[in-house]
Amino acid sequence: MPSARLPLLLALLLPFASTCFPKQRRFQKFPENFLWGTATASYQVEGAWNADGKGVNVWDTFTHEGGHVVNNETGDVACDSYHKYKEDVQLMKSIGLSHYRFSISWSRILPDGTAASYNEKGMQYYRDLVDELTGNNIIPLATLYHWDLPQPLQDAGGWLNESIISYFEDYARICFQELGSKVKLWLTHNEPFETCWSAYGLGEDAPGYSDHPGTYPYQCAHNLIKSHATVWHLYNIRYRPSHHGKVGITLNVEWKEPKYANQTAAADRSLDFMLGWFANPIYVNGNYPQSMIDQVAMKSAAQGFKESRLPTFTSDEMNYIRGTSDFFGVNHYTTRLVEHHQNSPELVSFVADQDTLETFDPTWPRAASLWLYEVPWGMRKVLNYIRVTYGNPDILVTENGVSDHSGSLNDQFRIQYHSSYIANMHQAIQDGCKVIGYTAWSLLDNFEWALGYSEKFGIHQVNFMDPARPRKAKMSAGWFRELIKNNGQAES
Ligand code: NOJ
Repeated sequence: MPSARLPLLLALLLPFASTCFPKQRRFQKFPENFLWGTATASYQVEGAWNADGKGVNVWDTFTHEGGHVVNNETGDVACDSYHKYKEDVQLMKSIGLSHYRFSISWSRILPDGTAASYNEKGMQYYRDLVDELTGNNIIPLATLYHWDLPQPLQDAGGWLNESIISYFEDYARICFQELGSKVKLWLTHNEPFETCWSAYGLGEDAPGYSDHPGTYPYQCAHNLIKSHATVWHLYNIRYRPSHHGKVGITLNVEWKEPKYANQTAAADRSLDFMLGWFANPIYVNGNYPQSMIDQVAMKSAAQGFKESRLPTFTSDEMNYIRGTSDFFGVNHYTTRLVEHHQNSPELVSFVADQDTLETFDPTWPRAASLWLYEVPWGMRKVLNYIRVTYGNPDILVTENGVSDHSGSLNDQFRIQYHSSYIANMHQAIQDGCKVIGYTAWSLLDNFEWALGYSEKFGIHQVNFMDPARPRKAKMSAGWFRELIKNNGQAES
């Protein structure tokens, strides 16, 4: 055959080649030393709500009050991890996890919230947990605040009262002092957006404030951001030289996809109000995003407020806040479609201030949690948005996961969810994002806040009807073991 015909023949045959020889599935290998972990939070798993001198926190009060949680369920016992932490660590070890993200219950170690009430037994629990983790080669990643504020501090105004900053500093100092020789990764706050919106604006989370949705969320965030910066500086000056650890913050963000190509400004604004609210001060310039400053000032003026409902930072405060994070912690689960929507000027609310409307694509699969649609490509977009907007920081995915109602051991849908989000995270790394680790929510089925035990995110099932709270590995736990062993997965 004349050699000139060869290319033509190949071109004709090539489309059939893939049917005869199925294409090799490419392998998504992750960088060496990539961290694979799972996460929990104190109130959601520990139980032992009044054991060994622990004080009452806002979630104890909120759940015991009744009327706020599905079936009036509580975290009184939860997964009983306070007593079963050794078994939990064995579950982690059997999967080969490199890190475990847990949170410290403030009222367990400082029952009334202040340093004067220090409770040695409560601290011992965290020393034991950390020893158990490090003894099994699992890196502890501790969150200082995952929503369970000591009740006496709430009675004094909680995150609305500026005095919370020095209480938080005292609490952090004790944690750094007592645990810092072994805990090298810290998060100050978990999802401040939820602390300040769901708890102080919407009222779904403890302490359940919903009467001032146009002011409280902003005041809460103002103090919370300062508390974060204060604790980062405390570590930086006092503990970093000897402990050599890292302190960050975990922010939650949904990807905001413009519903219409010509409405990117609305989606950008929505990202600013959710992520930029905290990320802009900490990672950019010490101040709120310009779109927030403009929107809230405009609305406040129209509503007759003497000044903007969004508080202002002094220039000293801005300098103090800017740059106070050693890595970017991000919780990401889902995506929204966003369009512009002009709200009525009378609405005094953090949500109305944004002038946006959020919807979903009806083709997106939905989890048990009504807010959670499976949109894997949102992960890649979020990570790239962080890379571009916040100076290409090291990113640690501190939560990602999916819920069902049954807690079934056969959780193929969960494997599918994690696998597709992890594939997008892999692509983001190829795009240049410096992702250093991934943390699945959650190690265990647990107390899902206002939804109680009705929504389950665990890769292990917990039988909440049995006082012994036995755990069983779901299929997803085995899948994670393989993923971690191979430090990656085959493309699907
Ligand atoms: C974020 C929160 O940090 C965690 O406490 C919660 O259970 C999960 N998302 C799932 O909703």
